Amino acid sequence: MEKIILTGDRPTGKLHLGHYVGSLKRRVELQNSGLYDKIFIMIADAQALTDNADNPEKVRQNIIEVALDYLSVGLDPTKSTIFIQSQVAELCELAFYYMNLVTVSRLQRNPTVKTEIKMRNFEANIPVGFFCYPISQAADITAFKATTVPVGEDQAPMIEQTREIVNRFNHIYGETLVEPNILLPDNAACLRLPGTDGKAKMSKSLGNCIYLSDTEADVQKKVKSMFTDPTHLKVSDPGKLEGNAVFTYLDAFSRDEHFAEFLPEYANLQELKDHYTRGGLGDMKVKMFLNSILQEELNPIRARRKELEKDIEEIYRILKKGSDEARQVAAQTLADVRSAMKINYFDDAELIKEQAAKYKNAD
Ligand code: TRP
Repeated sequence: MEKIILTGDRPTGKLHLGHYVGSLKRRVELQNSGLYDKIFIMIADAQALTDNADNPEKVRQNIIEVALDYLSVGLDPTKSTIFIQSQVAELCELAFYYMNLVTVSRLQRNPTVKTEIKMRNFEANIPVGFFCYPISQAADITAFKATTVPVGEDQAPMIEQTREIVNRFNHIYGETLVEPNILLPDNAACLRLPGTDGKAKMSKSLGNCIYLSDTEADVQKKVKSMFTDPTHLKVSDPGKLEGNAVFTYLDAFSRDEHFAEFLPEYANLQELKDHYTRGGLGDMKVKMFLNSILQEELNPIRARRKELEKDIEEIYRILKKGSDEARQVAAQTLADVRSAMKINYFDDAELIKEQAAKYKNAD
């Protein structure tokens, strides 16, 4: 069986370090590994509209931001098909058929949807489209017969629901769809990178993000004001690592080479942590180390973005070409689905012959 990746992001803002360690960096590695036959990267604008119906301009403006972020981290349109969800109408049709295979109570039990409903104060007035987005996400994944979906852990319930839909579909209509597997980040700190304020998640609405497109000065300012250990007041005080965002970022980003390069008094992160917890190591020194690491990681991304920004028309051409390709693949799956569901009347010469005979015999 072919190995196929599908994943994507909602275009509701620029992408940040949480996206980068949680998924983007991995996608580029997967893309360049040569282990996958096809890779589809989707800008999920239709899904973004499920809770931004009144703000289409926001979604529209962020398509290009996300596309620039994708290309500047190293996603390569000659290796990965980058496309816009709404331009592949087949996805809607698939979702419509899958809706028959999912109950309302099953959707209500989806933990990610539950949290999002709370966060958006939707309790009393949940838009139906929003409520059903896990079904539409199953359409996204299955349309491309994806075997592998690299996403953050918050997306695990979506992949689980997709697998259920696939099983139900195949059970009723015969083997048609492919059951996908989730591929989680392998570094625990990358599963959910906290915000610069130490809160559980980087999120635009909390204002605690470091964006891939931030300038060098922005990044430095944000790192300097990061949340550490509020009880670590004097350099000589022992410091805590738990809940200390700077150390969580170091878990996610630092490698032994960084110590040799920027902080040679320590051999590795463990030595730095030991000194911090013993006392005698100031926050600012650790922050400046983190800043050096982040700048080294972000510099080439920033440089590529600058280049890409010079030809925005070309970015739209890339998205158009990707969307056309994606549409062809999804159309093939939709044809399989229609035939499995026996709604392919005009392609079914047998059916027409059979019925013509039946009515002739009745004469
Ligand atoms: N729900 C994902 C997010 O919020 C975006 C998304 C839509 C997606 N469809 C998908 C991710 C299919 C993986 C596969 O980031």
